[in-house]
Amino acid sequence: MDHRAQALLSWYDRHRRSLPWRDVGDPYATWVSETMLQQTRVETVLSYYKRFLRAFPTVQALAAADEAEVLKLWEGLGYYRRAKNLLTGARQVVQAYGGAIPSDIAQLRKIQGIGPYTAGAIASMAFGRPEAAVDGNVTRVTARLTGYRDNAASPSGRREIEARVRAILPVERPGDFNQALMDLGATICLPGTPDCDRCPLAACCDASAAGDAEELPVLPRKNPPRAEQWDVLLIRSGDRFLLRPRTETLLQGLYVFAMAEGFHPAETVAEAARAVTGLTCESPVYLGEARHVFTHRVWEMRVWALTTDADTAPEGWVFADAEEMARLALPSAMRVPRRLAEQLPSGKPEA
Ligand code: ADE
Repeated sequence: MDHRAQALLSWYDRHRRSLPWRDVGDPYATWVSETMLQQTRVETVLSYYKRFLRAFPTVQALAAADEAEVLKLWEGLGYYRRAKNLLTGARQVVQAYGGAIPSDIAQLRKIQGIGPYTAGAIASMAFGRPEAAVDGNVTRVTARLTGYRDNAASPSGRREIEARVRAILPVERPGDFNQALMDLGATICLPGTPDCDRCPLAACCDASAAGDAEELPVLPRKNPPRAEQWDVLLIRSGDRFLLRPRTETLLQGLYVFAMAEGFHPAETVAEAARAVTGLTCESPVYLGEARHVFTHRVWEMRVWALTTDADTAPEGWVFADAEEMARLALPSAMRVPRRLAEQLPSGKPEA
């Protein structure tokens, strides 16, 4: 075994984080956890993972679920495409593989939502196959350890990082090795200033010797997200609010309040509400602002309350009271508007 793999595994045996998806021996659980962990921090994933596996303990249980149920369990986790792909993928596994998740990378890659990272993670962690699983942490650790000083995000950079992981990857315990790289990246080989004094690989680390660990990996600067202005319209009929499931690619299937692009003066908010929903609305009251950062855009929001006499929702919309709203999946972008809606005095007539 490569001496670096040896040193890393013996460190992992002493310092590994105790996480609920480790050593469960269930490829479905690995698929769920690694899908959640791809764009989300470990601490955030913990509670979602447990709830998800309680609701859908097997790939068959997930395959039989409705998308709305799955989105509700994913509510607040973001990147909802992952949840939809997981559901489609589970149905595929049940239909094409009789419910048995394949162990082979090429077969795994045919499943909806399983890319190179997830395929490598499942193959190595759940099946003990010697495959790499390269995420951001692994890229950073590997670039520093092996002194990779070119762009690590380009196609050739990614290929090179993966090749370097493979060159170190042991045939025994490949899943532990991959997770050890992740733990090292999350606890010691941090972005910015790494804690080389505590690192089990410091003695064999190229960047530590060269003194440029802080500058690695080399990643191109990302474009800042584009700002958009939206008036969020809490349109109320009695004690029910108007919402719609989004049909746009961003947040598709998640429920949002009515939104009118741009910031409108109070005098034209009712008009904007009519343009967006077709409903006659009255008495706009400004409640406050909110902001949500997505990968490529930022929503700057001003939240308004309005009332309407309509009691049937227009096509594509629903009126939901507090109890019904709790059953719908709303994205984190609606967290502040939803709280402002809940704080409004009840529209119910006094008993
Ligand atoms: N990040 C992605 N997968 C992980 C895992 N299995 N353990 C810790 N962090 C991770």
